[in-house]
Amino acid sequence: MARIIAVALPKGGVGKTTTAVNLAASLAVAEKRTLLIDMDTFGASGLSLGFTEGTIRAGLYEVFNFVTGIQNAIHKTELRYLDFIPSNVQTMQMEDRMMRVADNRAILRNALRGIASQYDYVILDCPPFLRGLSANALAASDSVLLPVKSGHFALDAVDRLFKYLAWVKEATNKTIEIEGILITMHEPNTRVTDITLRELTGKYGKHMFETFIPRNTVLSEASFYGKPAVLYNINSRGASAYLQLAREIIANNTLPAASSLGPTVMQLGQRV
Ligand SMILES: Nc1ncnc2c1ncn2[C@@H]1O[C@H](COP(=O)(O)OP(=O)(O)O)[C@@H](O)[C@H]1O
Ligand SMILES: [Mg+2]
Repeated sequence: MARIIAVALPKGGVGKTTTAVNLAASLAVAEKRTLLIDMDTFGASGLSLGFTEGTIRAGLYEVFNFVTGIQNAIHKTELRYLDFIPSNVQTMQMEDRMMRVADNRAILRNALRGIASQYDYVILDCPPFLRGLSANALAASDSVLLPVKSGHFALDAVDRLFKYLAWVKEATNKTIEIEGILITMHEPNTRVTDITLRELTGKYGKHMFETFIPRNTVLSEASFYGKPAVLYNINSRGASAYLQLAREIIANNTLPAASSLGPTVMQLGQRV
C-alpha cells in the first residue's frame, strides 16, 4: 500500500511545488513506484514536469466531478517509475466548481482507494491555503511534509499548520503523522537564516529532516524547462539534495531488517 504524503504549508513561495516534484522524481529514481498529484488549481507541478493544456487528457477536476475514473487521469512521465495526475483547472468557473466539490473532504481519499496499491508513494502538491483542496489532501494522507523557506518568517505558518492538524486529527484523519519539516532555499551563515533556524529547531527540532535543500538556481531553471532537476542536471546541488531527502524518507519508512529482529525471534522461540 502506498504511503501518501501531503506537501503542505499555508504560505506561498516556500518551495512546496519544487519539493513535491523533485521528491517524487527522486523517489522514482530510487525505483519506488511514485504518483505525484497536483492539488493546486494553479497547476505549477504540471508545468514543472512539462505538461501543458494540450498534453493533459483529464485531471483531478474530471475525477472530482465524476466525469472520469482516477485511472484515466494518470499520466506517464519521462521517468519510468513516476506517474502524474494534473489538476486540469483552466478557468475561474472551473476553479469555483473545484472549490465547491472539495468541500466534501473525503473525495480524494475515496478516489485514491482504487489505485493506492499500485504505488509505493503518493505525493500531494498542496495550494498555499488550508481550506478546500489542502483539507482534502490532509484527510487522505498518512503524513504531512512541511517545506519552510530558510530565513523567512515561517514559524507562524508552521504553527498554523500544527493547529490545523489537531483539528484534522479530530475531524477527518486520526492517524496523520508529521513526515518532517524541510528547510528549503537554504543559504548558510546569514543572520536571518541563523535566527529562523534556531527558532524552528527550538520549537520543532524533533520533526526536522537532516537534509536541507540549498538555494540553487538549477531548481528553478529545471522547472522552467519542464523537467525535474534529476533529468535537467543530476550533478547539481539541488538534485543531490532532493535525492538525499528521498533516501532519508525511504529509510524512515523502512521497517528494521529481518536480521535485526533476530534476538526477539530467538527469545520468542525459547519461550514456546
Ligand atoms: N531550493 C531552491 N533554490 C532556488 N530557487 C528555488 C528553490 N526552491 C524553490 N525555488 C523557486 O522559488 C519559487 C517558489 O517555489 P515553489 O516551489 O513554486 O513554492 P510554492 O509551491 O510553495 O509556492 C519558484 O520560482 C521556485 O523555482
Ligand atoms: Mg506551489
